[in-house]
Amino acid sequence: MKILVVNGPNLNLLGEREPDVYGRATLDDLERAVAKRCKRYGWKVKFFQSNHEGAIIDELHARRGWADAIVINPGAFTHYSYAIRDAIAAIGVPTAEVHLSDVDNREDFRRISVVRDVCVHRFAGRGIDSYLDALEAFATTNGAA
Ligand code: DQA
Repeated sequence: MKILVVNGPNLNLLGEREPDVYGRATLDDLERAVAKRCKRYGWKVKFFQSNHEGAIIDELHARRGWADAIVINPGAFTHYSYAIRDAIAAIGVPTAEVHLSDVDNREDFRRISVVRDVCVHRFAGRGIDSYLDALEAFATTNGAA
């Protein structure tokens, strides 16, 4: 399997950004943990982070022929980016929506996800483990686990 992991705005500041909400682990720590789990299954993985909506859409388009599955944390775009939602639907690659924090139990605006119904899995509130849960879900579908 080939996995694309996409992180949206402000996730480059993980570790220093509101650590009581998002934890002390950095984006590097997160990517290392994901890479390790992918290695266990013999999967290839590519990482992408951007603070820009269009750059995320361009990456999804560019990797559509490469990726077998996508794990995406769209950050705040989750709550209002119909353009990212449409990109996920357009490329037709099975995608998991993930969040570090428990978005359903924070401010009201975070309960809305415009990408939810174009994603095949959703994991939130488990920090880096939300990403690993998504990998496990794909492993189950793929027969690797
Ligand atoms: C987040 C939750 C979003 O509401 C927020 O805007 C983020 C991070 C999370 O991982 O918990 O930037 O997606």
